[in-house]
Amino acid sequence: MSLQQENRFQTIISHAKEYGFVFPSSEIYDGLSAVYDYGPYGSELKKNIRDYWWKSMTQMHENIVGIDAAIFMHPTTWKASGHVDNFSDPMIDNKDSKKRYRVDHLLEAHADKLREKGAEKEADDLLQTMDALLAKEDFPSLKKLIEDNKIVCNVSETNNWTDIRQFNLMFSTQIGSVAGEADTIYLRPETAQGIFVNFLNVQKTARLKIPFGIAQIGKAFRNEIVARQFIFRMREFEQMEMQFFIRPGTQKEWYEYWKEARLKWHLSLGIPQEKYRYHNHTKLAHYADAALDIEYEFPIGFKEVEGIHSRTDFDLSSHQKYSGKKLTYFDNEINQHYIPYVIETSIGLDRMFLLILSYAYNEEKWTKEDGKEDSRVVMRIPEKIAPIKLAVLPLVKKDGLPEVARDIIADCAPYFKCFYEEKDTIGKRYRRQDAIGTPFCVTVDHQTKEDGTVTIRHRDSMKQERINKTEIKDKLLNLLLF
Ligand code: GAP
Repeated sequence: MSLQQENRFQTIISHAKEYGFVFPSSEIYDGLSAVYDYGPYGSELKKNIRDYWWKSMTQMHENIVGIDAAIFMHPTTWKASGHVDNFSDPMIDNKDSKKRYRVDHLLEAHADKLREKGAEKEADDLLQTMDALLAKEDFPSLKKLIEDNKIVCNVSETNNWTDIRQFNLMFSTQIGSVAGEADTIYLRPETAQGIFVNFLNVQKTARLKIPFGIAQIGKAFRNEIVARQFIFRMREFEQMEMQFFIRPGTQKEWYEYWKEARLKWHLSLGIPQEKYRYHNHTKLAHYADAALDIEYEFPIGFKEVEGIHSRTDFDLSSHQKYSGKKLTYFDNEINQHYIPYVIETSIGLDRMFLLILSYAYNEEKWTKEDGKEDSRVVMRIPEKIAPIKLAVLPLVKKDGLPEVARDIIADCAPYFKCFYEEKDTIGKRYRRQDAIGTPFCVTVDHQTKEDGTVTIRHRDSMKQERINKTEIKDKLLNLLLF
């Protein structure tokens, strides 16, 4: 990461804290690594992203329904899903600092440094070799690759490395109150398995025919080792996943369909296409026959925000085997019983939140008509998901203006989130709303009392127009509809 990128990332993190978007968890005790809390504006923004995804899946598709499964699941679930045996990352420890690294992250960071020095080809070759060795799980050669490239620990600055070992990322705990009889269970590392084990319950009760999807939003937990990237990589996070059940043999076309549909969803928020790219996986997870990431250009570089996975019939077949319960579907169009294939779309809610913060944060400077310099920090959060949609600001605290402002809020608050403020100059109040991304500010002044008009100011253009106060609600509802 260049110094400029690092600075931008740190500025966004500070802004998120200062303006009530994201706080370190239990901060008064110095925080908990890779765990974060969402503040007043953060929780609104997060909810709006969640709703935007949920609506696009369940309301805009007749054949996709939602569920809300428990975080705790029968422990055999994770044996069947492969997570007990395979959900691990190759790690390496530095013997001097005792610091542990994920092998791919260590090599990727080195490739970034090579790129900064202009050695693009060397960086590409390094990552290609890494991918090939990871795919073969050839740990001795990966260690040699680290040593040959003279990669050092950034704490001890030595290359005194242990052998590479696998570490399971699932958190475990005990269920049951009788000591000695308690069973080990896991905090789910993905929400997908709650969908698979409910596949027939949902298909039957919602009377669904293939192809159909089941969507779910919920918490997932991973004991991430490299956890210094704010809400990019967390130990407790939220996923928005959809499993799309299809006829075997149709997986290629549905994979292409969801690859495009999901990118369109991102672009529908008004984020430019050039900020995104696809990254095809060369090392496939144990359940997949094809997989790609939708990557976004975060301040820390192009990184995964969402995964599209062709999961074959791996999960349902495995649950059928471990549970002894039949999980086949009868397709009456072709008169056949089969275990459906699955295309999965999986996006991290917190990572999407970081994407929005990264896209939205802008520092602007300009020269005013009187020749003086002016500046602002503005969060260009897509209007539909902005935490506050409308701020209503009486010009002064007297002459009946606050009462008119309160009436406007009473009219609009049942439809979208409003904010009232009467302290400080209008200019200062506009800046505060810019900093939290409020797309519209309405100012009530003395003219409002005469002719019922108000000034509406648009966050992005800073343009102002006068409209009748009775038009505000419908104007915003039209702009905010999703
Ligand atoms: N069910 C498939 C699955 O979980 P994944 O690629 O491991 O696939 C999907 O995760 C998405 O979940 C990622 O694209 C990312 O947005 C999010 N995610 C994964 N691990 C995360 C973490 N530690 N912190 C925040 N988000 C994470």
